[in-house]
Amino acid sequence: MPLPIVDLRPYFTPLREFEGVLDWEQIFGNDGPVELDIGCGRGKFLFDSTVAHPATNWVGVELDFTEGRRGARRLAKRVSTNGRVIGGDAHELLMRRVKRHSVAAAHVYFPDPWWKRKHHKRRLFTDEFADLLASTVMQGGFVHSWTDVEDYYHVIRALMNHHPEFTPLPPPPEPAGLSDGDYLTSFHRRRKLAGSTIWRGLWQRRWRRT
Ligand SMILES: C[S@@+](CC[C@H](N)C(=O)[O-])C[C@H]1O[C@@H](n2cnc3c(N)ncnc32)[C@H](O)[C@@H]1O
Repeated sequence: MPLPIVDLRPYFTPLREFEGVLDWEQIFGNDGPVELDIGCGRGKFLFDSTVAHPATNWVGVELDFTEGRRGARRLAKRVSTNGRVIGGDAHELLMRRVKRHSVAAAHVYFPDPWWKRKHHKRRLFTDEFADLLASTVMQGGFVHSWTDVEDYYHVIRALMNHHPEFTPLPPPPEPAGLSDGDYLTSFHRRRKLAGSTIWRGLWQRRWRRT
């Protein structure tokens, strides 16, 4: 049954309602590190992260407002002070609304695969998107991305490994024998239960001498 639409501000706010460049300190009332969950879906990773890492501020961005509101509802129930969902397009967010190099990590889990070859151009990861990640993540910060789509993983890996601002790192090993609470995201759970292999990438933004 569809959930009733209620005003979930400040837990869910459409990007268009913010003015100019986002001020993380004003949004969270502190100057803690900010991590982004791009395409956060219904927000399992986002919510769990707010609980597991209370000193970090967590921002989900989600194109699908129904899914984004689901995640925001969980944050609202817990009266979370360190989690917010922004409804809108990650490209718009990263291109114009996030202060350069203001984010400690970006997480992109199970981005839509757009299976048909003629639709591949709709995929989130492109050269342009890798550049946007490089301009968003601070020096020494991280990009995490997981997918169950092998060919898409190879594209993501090539884009990120070849990017001059990023160094690939070995991702932490996936624990064996996952139980329900151990899944990182809703899609992780769905794909693992379907028996899929999960392809995981981790990159660090290079340190640059000033
Ligand atoms: C396959 S789902 C994965 C959701 C979640 N990360 C997970 O692992 O359960 C991909 C999500 O990315 C969102 N998405 C796709 N393109 C986006 C964009 N340009 N900006 C923000 N969200 C986007 C979709 O609406 C969808 O909810």
